[in-house]
Amino acid sequence: QTASLTTGQIGKDGYRHFMEKELHEHPVAIGQTLQRIIDPVTRRIALPDMPFDASTLSRATITACGSAFYAGMVGRYWLEELARLPVDIDVASELRYRNPPQPDKGLALLISQSGETADTLGVLRELKTAGQSIVSILNVEHSTMGRESDLVLGMVAGPEISVASTKAFTAQLAVLAALTIDFARQRNLLDEKRERELTDNLLDLPSHAMEVLGLFDQIRTMARVIAQARDVLYLGRGICMPVAQEGALKLKEISYIHAEAYAAGELKHGPISLIDPSVPVVAIAPSTILFDKTLSNLQEARARGGRILVFTDEKGAERLKDIAEHMVILPDVSAFVAPILYTIPVQILAYEVALLKGTDVDQPRNLAKSVTVE
Ligand code: AGP
Repeated sequence: QTASLTTGQIGKDGYRHFMEKELHEHPVAIGQTLQRIIDPVTRRIALPDMPFDASTLSRATITACGSAFYAGMVGRYWLEELARLPVDIDVASELRYRNPPQPDKGLALLISQSGETADTLGVLRELKTAGQSIVSILNVEHSTMGRESDLVLGMVAGPEISVASTKAFTAQLAVLAALTIDFARQRNLLDEKRERELTDNLLDLPSHAMEVLGLFDQIRTMARVIAQARDVLYLGRGICMPVAQEGALKLKEISYIHAEAYAAGELKHGPISLIDPSVPVVAIAPSTILFDKTLSNLQEARARGGRILVFTDEKGAERLKDIAEHMVILPDVSAFVAPILYTIPVQILAYEVALLKGTDVDQPRNLAKSVTVE
């Protein structure tokens, strides 16, 4: 069937599942989202005017639920590191009832694919009452959250049908990355050369994402190990820790295998007692500044019989070859865009495991696409 948006009938276009189709739409979702917020001529970030002054902003609050929350966690690393903007972040269902003090004219950044999630909508109203500027990153712009926001930054991911969010996640990250560059420039923290470098990193992403879509077979080999497990540990450091969280959530959601994500540095503070040959360890480890520390964490896990599965790049693979049972090697990308690119294979891994488990990939048990009730 062809996708005919007008009748609302959206087909799988020959894929087995909507999730498989939407995984293959990562490049176009990232590309279309960027096209809308980067001027094609100047190649500079061109976001709409904001209802606040980013140069004097004292703090931003980021909130969302589920996968969207993990996207927000990545955004926090970017905004704090590159725009030097302190960020308070919490899941919407907690933030709603924490009632933290809010700065005058602060920014509340809400993230939602559907724009209808009850807890995120609830906290939008609380933060609006507290005088915050409400900026929402939404895939469904004409949603309740869209109508109640001061400004909507739209993802252009197209309709996402599978309950497990995939392409919306990388589109959310594309918006957050562009927002970070925009804020950093407004706060005089980026010279033009560095701004162009970061923007070019983003513009190169769709082609790198296409390369990652060629790794299904290698990821399937990894999936065979995971499919036998009852518990899986996902590890990441720094800006890749939220990607570990997203990978663990995806696995739980659609394969029903328990998985937990940890900051790799936390391994020694408890979780290492879980490690034995029945608990695979999945690491998101591009060869960035924290790689050596992640490597030593993985060596510790390996020494305790852990089965080490790693997403890395060529340089990382060279250093990991003696301890990793399986490695999937991604294209070399900057640390800035690594969390966006490394999201794709961890979602593919969950999909391949779900296929092996024979679960209902697009409609996993107990789940709804949008949680509109608390
Ligand atoms: C993600 O795969 C899940 N379906 C779920 O965690 C989802 O991200 C969450 O419910 C938030 O939904 P929203 O983005 O529509 O607000």
